[in-house]
Amino acid sequence: MDGNNPQDPTHQVESARKAFEQEFGRFARFITTAELRLSLAEALAEESALRELKTRNLGKKSALAASKKLIGRVEPEARAAFGQLVQRTEAEIVKAIDQVEQRLSSYLETLRNERDSIDVTLPGRRPRLGHRHPITLVRERIEDIFVALGYAIEDDREIETDFYNFDALNIPQNHPARAPQDTFYTNAGLALRSQTSTVQIHAMQRRGAPVRMIAPGRVFRRDTPDPTHNPMFFQVEGLCVDEGITMAHLKGTVAEFLRRMFGPSTVTRFRPSYFPFTEPSAEFDFSCFKCGGEGCRICKYSGWIELGGSGMVHPNVLRAVGVDPERYSGFAFGLGIDRMCALMYGLDDIRLLFENDVRFLEQFE
Ligand code: FA5
Repeated sequence: MDGNNPQDPTHQVESARKAFEQEFGRFARFITTAELRLSLAEALAEESALRELKTRNLGKKSALAASKKLIGRVEPEARAAFGQLVQRTEAEIVKAIDQVEQRLSSYLETLRNERDSIDVTLPGRRPRLGHRHPITLVRERIEDIFVALGYAIEDDREIETDFYNFDALNIPQNHPARAPQDTFYTNAGLALRSQTSTVQIHAMQRRGAPVRMIAPGRVFRRDTPDPTHNPMFFQVEGLCVDEGITMAHLKGTVAEFLRRMFGPSTVTRFRPSYFPFTEPSAEFDFSCFKCGGEGCRICKYSGWIELGGSGMVHPNVLRAVGVDPERYSGFAFGLGIDRMCALMYGLDDIRLLFENDVRFLEQFE
């Protein structure tokens, strides 16, 4: 064998080693340098370059792999020495690459830990906590009071058929009571409900009698927005149907609710009124919670605040849901949550409630 002859197997091994050493030069610092200064991206690039170098120098198509195939062709007396040369060269290359691989992988781990670590000594960023909308706050107070009085809370659909919004509530086609509650219709004969009284019908269809429930929810009317009107607002409906229910139960319940809502000295009064689905009907007012009835800006110097409508459930309504009006009677009431909310928080204009101005909304906790 002649080590200087390019055809010579020993020469091939030597030149494979030299080629490796040349290529490996750039990785030597991973073995010799105590402190590496690479970014995560740079270190990752080095890692993949090293992987490629490994394949090139030790892979199936490497010069070293080709030299191994020559072992059989070397003259017998030189074969052992050649085999050892190939093995030694391969072991050296493997060792060098191994060292860099280990250094790189522990360096990468350090970089990744640094990236993912949290400095617990840094001042925290306080998350901006939201809170409930003033209408929700008032609604929840109303719900708490009625739950304590033994009422269930019903939630129902906002899109209704004519039957639930009008007919079943004793408001037939062409009845003038439809006009003040004109709402938004879709093509399919459906409309956005104009009052929560629709839930009276659903609740009685679902539960029959006796029933005791309140139903807070969103309603819609074709009202032009002004300080006391919105085309979308909230109402809460109340319904109590059982044997022997009278107007006295209605008055007692509403009065107790208002005492719990506005204080024990609150006085309630009922004024005769008309709603097609109650007979007799009454609107109810309560003594002003601000001035106690003396007269102030909130009650417009009348001493009273108007709150909602009520009455004894009309026999036609009971019949429409299959409840026998000879056996059962009941009362119902409904009030607007937005106006109540405006009163309680001293707002001049209920439109403020839906402008979504955080500076306004964050005042109510
Ligand atoms: C009714 O809607 C009846 N369903 C109430 C009722 C229930 C009577 C059960 C008898 C038995 P009315 O149309 O008066 O009634 O509305 C009730 C309340 O909704 C009003 O007192 C008012 O507080 C509120 N309200 C009515 N229209 C608007 C509006 N455009 N914007 C804000 N609140 C409104």
